Amino acid sequence: MKITSICCLGAGYVGGPTMAMIAAKCPDIRVTVADMNEKRIAAWNSDDLPVYEPGLDDIVTTARGRNLHFTTDIKAAIAGADLIFVSVGTPTKSYGIGAGRAADLRYIESAARLIAEVSEGHKIIVEKSTIPVKTASAIQTILAANSTKDATFQVLSNPEFLAEGTAIADLENPDRILIGGEQTPEGLAAIQALASVYQRWVPREKIITTNLWSSELSKLVANAFLAQRISSINSISALCEATGADVDEVARAIGTDSRIGPKFIKSSVGFGGSCFQKDILNLVYLCQSFGLPDAAEYWRQVIHLNDWQKSRFVEKIVRTLFNTVNGKRIAILGFAFKKDTNDTRESAAIHICRDLLRERAHIAIYDPQVDAAQIHQDLTEAGIDPELLATNVELCDSPYAAAENSHALATLTEWDEFRHLDLPRLYDLMLKPAFVFDGRAILPTTALKALGFDAFIIGKGA
Ligand code: NAD
Ligand code: UDX
Repeated sequence: MKITSICCLGAGYVGGPTMAMIAAKCPDIRVTVADMNEKRIAAWNSDDLPVYEPGLDDIVTTARGRNLHFTTDIKAAIAGADLIFVSVGTPTKSYGIGAGRAADLRYIESAARLIAEVSEGHKIIVEKSTIPVKTASAIQTILAANSTKDATFQVLSNPEFLAEGTAIADLENPDRILIGGEQTPEGLAAIQALASVYQRWVPREKIITTNLWSSELSKLVANAFLAQRISSINSISALCEATGADVDEVARAIGTDSRIGPKFIKSSVGFGGSCFQKDILNLVYLCQSFGLPDAAEYWRQVIHLNDWQKSRFVEKIVRTLFNTVNGKRIAILGFAFKKDTNDTRESAAIHICRDLLRERAHIAIYDPQVDAAQIHQDLTEAGIDPELLATNVELCDSPYAAAENSHALATLTEWDEFRHLDLPRLYDLMLKPAFVFDGRAILPTTALKALGFDAFIIGKGA
């Protein structure tokens, strides 16, 4: 089966960039990204894209209006496609059975019902969203039970491994493409049809094909392993601080062992992002559901350690500032969960700002890409009431404006521009003693101390 028309349900951080890349690489395939969120679709059709991602503007501009389209007409997009990616959100369930652990699959289910209602002929449905193992079976059942026009379907799993901030590079040159499908002649034909789309720019040997359940589970496991490495190094950061060791030196030493490798062992104030916590909770829930409490507990510890890392950072600030931050201005540099994205989902900054506000600190936040409305929304959802938000939170347009008259400064996102701060200028602007809490270990310790700062760098002993 040759694919000539693709649609994607969900114009988010995954659907938008991924479809833009497919459209840019396959000019003969019509690619339509459909979402009911009118504001988001309007932004995708404008010069101010809803997702900040280096290189994204260029590929969207190349393909948009040619073979890349963004629409709110979801039914028409489904009807016109041979292959439909489902890239809707799968957040952690916040209610009922499995609340706080299981994935909320309501968007997946409604997408499947809509596909069944609208489709005619044969269609390939591709799970792009991260979902619990066996979800393809539920999708197959919903499609079979609701198809009104005798359509036939093959369901594939094709998880996305891009990381935000490097999405375009990851999509252009992926470590691998994973495609799972039924091991029947029809399933294998669908796998081949999707593989042939990626083969336009990805070498065949990087395309791994497997069965549905292995593919679905691999995505959760990949994220759990990555997050586990961060929690492992963060546990060691605390030991380094207590002993005088340097966590970056330890990471460098262990990372040269080819069995360990150098990536994902950078200590931080805690991992954030929409995926790691959600996907590990999902894995924990799966282990519990399949009667494997010890395996569940093992993975739960990765999240426990991450929560501890965020809390101990706040405690360090409060203790160092003579056990009170009440009324003290604290400059917060970085609110996004990592550099080169405007995404704040599960950002460590939300937890740290919330806890400082509960201590009645005044916080002055600067982030180069996150807008004020997003910061207000995040802090409100974290439980900060509007009055405290209005009196104790200031949004600044430079690191220097945030630092002015502050008692302390904390770096929470590793934006490149923070590596080139004018430190003498910062020092002059701040109250004395001037405290720095570097949650990303990006500032030069020796230079800070030489200037007179009282500096705490995550994972670095005195
Ligand atoms: P997102 O919240 O940015 O976007 C999801 C979009 O789906 C929303 O705009 C929503 O309006 C839309 N939607 C919901 N139901 C729909 C429907 N029936 N039809 C059309 N649109 C619908 O989410 P995201 O970050 O793009 O993540 C999507 C999925 O990809 C999740 O399962 C996530 O776990 C997974 N994932 C995310 C990343 C990442 O870095 N963000 C990486 C890999 C995988
Ligand atoms: C992650 C996975 O990397 C990606 O493959 C998957 O598709 C989606 O989830 P993402 O969350 O976008 O991607 O970013 P990632 O680079 O993994 O960073 C996640 C968090 O871990 C960030 O807060 C980052 O700052 C933190 N991190 C990362 C560390 O603290 N130390 C590290 O060494 C690496």
